Amino acid sequence: MSSEPSTDPAAFHDFEHAGWQRAAAHYADTFGTLTVQAIDPLLDAVAIARGTHLLDVACGPGYVAAAAASRGATASGLDFSTLMVDEARRRYPGLDFQEGDAEALPFDNGSFDAVVMNFGLLHLARPEAAIQEAFRVLVPGGRYAFTVWARPEEAVGFGIVLRAMSTHGTTNVGLPDGPPFFRFSDADESRSALSRAGFTAAAVRTLPLVWRLPSADALFAAALQGGVRTSAALQAQTPEALAAIRDAVLTELRQYAADVGVAVPMPVVLASGTKE
Ligand SMILES: C[S@@+](CC[C@H](N)C(=O)[O-])C[C@H]1O[C@@H](n2cnc3c(N)ncnc32)[C@H](O)[C@@H]1O
Repeated sequence: MSSEPSTDPAAFHDFEHAGWQRAAAHYADTFGTLTVQAIDPLLDAVAIARGTHLLDVACGPGYVAAAAASRGATASGLDFSTLMVDEARRRYPGLDFQEGDAEALPFDNGSFDAVVMNFGLLHLARPEAAIQEAFRVLVPGGRYAFTVWARPEEAVGFGIVLRAMSTHGTTNVGLPDGPPFFRFSDADESRSALSRAGFTAAAVRTLPLVWRLPSADALFAAALQGGVRTSAALQAQTPEALAAIRDAVLTELRQYAADVGVAVPMPVVLASGTKE
């Protein structure tokens, strides 16, 4: 899979920022119901313990920081979306959340024992800069871990929506060019990105998450409103194309019908490393 950088990182960064400001109101009820499932393995990967000083980068509504705090860590969260930070502060008033950029962390060198990023890396214009920044703010011996979605052939929810969009609409809607969404789904790519930033003991594994939603339409609604690139691409379709995409998504999801709603495989790649 290609790893070429975004051709206009500033434009892509601004596009993602505007997108997250829009998605913030919908996130907790859509992708948030799925991303929380990765929290325990993510925290285990950084060997969280009582007293660990942890930074949750791209924290969104603050789930990971809150889970770390409940495991005895001193946790801070950072996100570049004011509305996400507001949501995190509302949900977890006792915790420290601040606005800031993953690509230029507002912390001194060696400030944290652990840094995590749950589903943030795939939204960044300069993911290498974010990994490098995580390395910089860690103490020697500190641990870093991130999660991203597996490829769409495995993360079925993405596969179904993207396939329906290319069959019944268009994926070429003129969005700002960004790094490939599934770049770090590739274990070798994740491992080498960690090594290039200076991390050792790089390890990558897959978590078999399943997205349980009350209906097939709830998955379509999540794709339409809960994210940035896919949501923007769907919103740019003609009304006729969007209706056909929705029909195709609902039809394909019939095979994932559960006792209630749907249960869709959404495996996750978890990568981690140590700053020696
Ligand atoms: C998919 S959400 C993940 C939220 C949360 N970590 C979770 O576990 O559900 C991605 C988050 O990354 C944030 N984000 C994207 N680019 C960022 C950047 N350059 N700096 C800081 N936050 C960023 C978005 O605002 C959004 O809250």
